[in-house]
Amino acid sequence: MSANERPSGQQQTGRTAASATADSAFLRACRREPVSHTPVWFMRQAGRSLPEYLKVREGVAMLDSCTRPDLVTEITLQPVRRHHVDAAIYFSDIVVPLKAIGLDLDIKPGVGPVIEAPIRTRADLDRLRPLDPDDVKYVTEAVGMLVGELGATPLIGFAGAPFTLASYLVEGGPSRNHERTKALMYGDPELWADLLDRLADITAAFLKVQIEAGASAVQLFDSWVGALAPADYRAHVMPASAKVFDAVAGYGVPRIHFGVGTGELLGLLGEAGADVVGVDWRVPLDEAARRVGPGKALQGNLDPAVLFAPRQAVEAKAREVLDAARGLGGHIFNLGHGVLPTTDPDALTRLVEYVHTHTAR
Ligand code: CP3
Repeated sequence: MSANERPSGQQQTGRTAASATADSAFLRACRREPVSHTPVWFMRQAGRSLPEYLKVREGVAMLDSCTRPDLVTEITLQPVRRHHVDAAIYFSDIVVPLKAIGLDLDIKPGVGPVIEAPIRTRADLDRLRPLDPDDVKYVTEAVGMLVGELGATPLIGFAGAPFTLASYLVEGGPSRNHERTKALMYGDPELWADLLDRLADITAAFLKVQIEAGASAVQLFDSWVGALAPADYRAHVMPASAKVFDAVAGYGVPRIHFGVGTGELLGLLGEAGADVVGVDWRVPLDEAARRVGPGKALQGNLDPAVLFAPRQAVEAKAREVLDAARGLGGHIFNLGHGVLPTTDPDALTRLVEYVHTHTAR
């Protein structure tokens, strides 16, 4: 049962809601168990493609909205109500834990995260103090509210991976080529390793807060890691991402690992400790499964730009994804990257319906 079908969040006791959640198609697919239908959710499903989102965000800065449990709860629920997706993703941003430890950063509309004083020297590392759960009390509160509202629909917690966070911190903002980031990585590998290690601890602490408050899966977004060759990923990034996955392994919640342009890294993304590997649209899922190796579920991988094509074309491309995923034993339908801001929300609703109808068993 999903939030939109339930008259009230108070109707199920905690225990029955928890076991219904554990038995949801999304969590079953993450564990590679048989499912009644292929579960579907969309990265960046909450946000600018929804008019109801724009309405509640009016006059509230992005990072301020992330500290208000009432707004976080409403925005997280919006796509669940509208699209009937199989999972909710907690409304926040990858830079929220960095802001919470006191870094002077902001999210500029149409640009992305921007940091006032970039992190580039050993002395700068001192500004990256550990994250205390008390720094993000609003997260604990919002996750608790959401779990009550969502009923059997699982809530996915998330964080940015050390490399992707480091890229914003070192560059000072979004970057096409990550040149300063790579200069630090190659030029001072020790300082780089210490930077990523601190970010791993912050990220792990942030994921723990979400899991302990009730999130039933977590996704690590290493959005920009596809900029690296496999040997550099293994040497300079994987230890930090593996530290994050190890830190939350004991909770037993599925751990999803996602990056863009990671065709050559798919095996390593799994090796870092994920239970589920997210795949972008450049590698078909059957080939991705071969690269990832046995024992892991896959998530993906419709090109988000396909949603701008006519309905028949969207359905044909969705069919291709489902066909490539046949026999995988563990597939979560998603886009290959986030929903693009000008996407027609109705196209997303229709896509969920298509996947549900065409995979019902
Ligand atoms: O998925 C969801 O619906 C949950 C919300 C979510 C946001 N950011 C909200 C947001 C999630 C999961 C993120 C993750 C995130 N943030 C990533 C990893 C995912 C990815 O797309 O690769 C990255 C790289 C960021 C950094 C970031 N924050 C970018 C690049 C931007 C977009 C800048 C822009 O305006 O074009 C943001 C801002 C942001 N994060 C918005 C939202 C809804 C837009 C801000 C607004 O509505 O004012």
